[in-house]
Amino acid sequence: MRRKVTKAIFPVAGLGTRFLPATKSVPKEIMTLVDRPLVQYAIDEARAAGIKEFIFVTSRGKSALEDYFDHSPVLEQELRKKGKDKLLETLKATNMESGAIAYIRQHKALGLGHAVWCARRLIGNEPFAVMLPDDVIAAEVPCLQQMVEAYEETGGNMVAAMEVPPEKASAYGVLDVKEDMGSIVSVRGMVEKPAPEEAPSNLAVIGRYILNPSVLSNLNRMKSGAGGEIQLTDAIAEDIDAGRDVYGYRFRGQRFDCGSKAGFLQATVAFALARDDLRDDLSRYLSEIVQVDKAAQ
Ligand code: UTP
Repeated sequence: MRRKVTKAIFPVAGLGTRFLPATKSVPKEIMTLVDRPLVQYAIDEARAAGIKEFIFVTSRGKSALEDYFDHSPVLEQELRKKGKDKLLETLKATNMESGAIAYIRQHKALGLGHAVWCARRLIGNEPFAVMLPDDVIAAEVPCLQQMVEAYEETGGNMVAAMEVPPEKASAYGVLDVKEDMGSIVSVRGMVEKPAPEEAPSNLAVIGRYILNPSVLSNLNRMKSGAGGEIQLTDAIAEDIDAGRDVYGYRFRGQRFDCGSKAGFLQATVAFALARDDLRDDLSRYLSEIVQVDKAAQ
């Protein structure tokens, strides 16, 4: 029997420079799509996939993130007194069970691979998930759940994969595909941020992974890669060289790059339009401004 994936690492120790000045005092993961912070979407997705232990790799200035998962007795009491049951339920869904959540510090932003390695002692010798909260995925079946189901068949290491236009591939880790089996591809190699003419495919890795603990041992060697950072992609690729399987998983769903301003705005509009309480007003407003814009051209 394959071991169940019950632990997830959330690396959130990056500097978030693309959102300065906001990220000077607000962690990127606390920024909200409509009324829920990015991190809440990631936690909900992880829970749906059966994750029981949530490990955050944080850095200086991220205390708002830790506070977010705390119980808020005063607020809860106030809402109870006023009979605001629906809000109370919303608030309760953000509480984490004692002991289910752990915070580890990454003392220096040395790269995603290094951030994941910082959590090695809490992972031990079992498979684990890695989720980047700034990749938000709207999907009927939550993305990590789709991956866990596929992983139960394949084992090995699995990364979420998405087709990107060839000119965009150099912004991602890119898969060198050995065999394309539809939703699952087996992988011969992986390259982080390849030069445009060197991208082995247009299948890019996005922020969901199910990994074997061997990847953490590979990270022990602390090799720096693209951009001088310790790259998770390189440590996964080393597993292929050691004869272990790596698969890309083409998930069903729409991914928003909420680490970029354009992606964040698109996600805000998409999630607001999906809400019954906001759809009518917002779509009316959007069609009005599109018309004004067209008339001005
Ligand atoms: P990004 O490449 O998006 O970097 O990291 P960033 O610092 O968050 O944002 P920008 O580019 O400066 O705007 C991808 C993910 O890896 C984490 C980030 O927190 C983010 O979730 N990360 C990155 C770390 O935890 N530590 C690192 O050293 C680097």
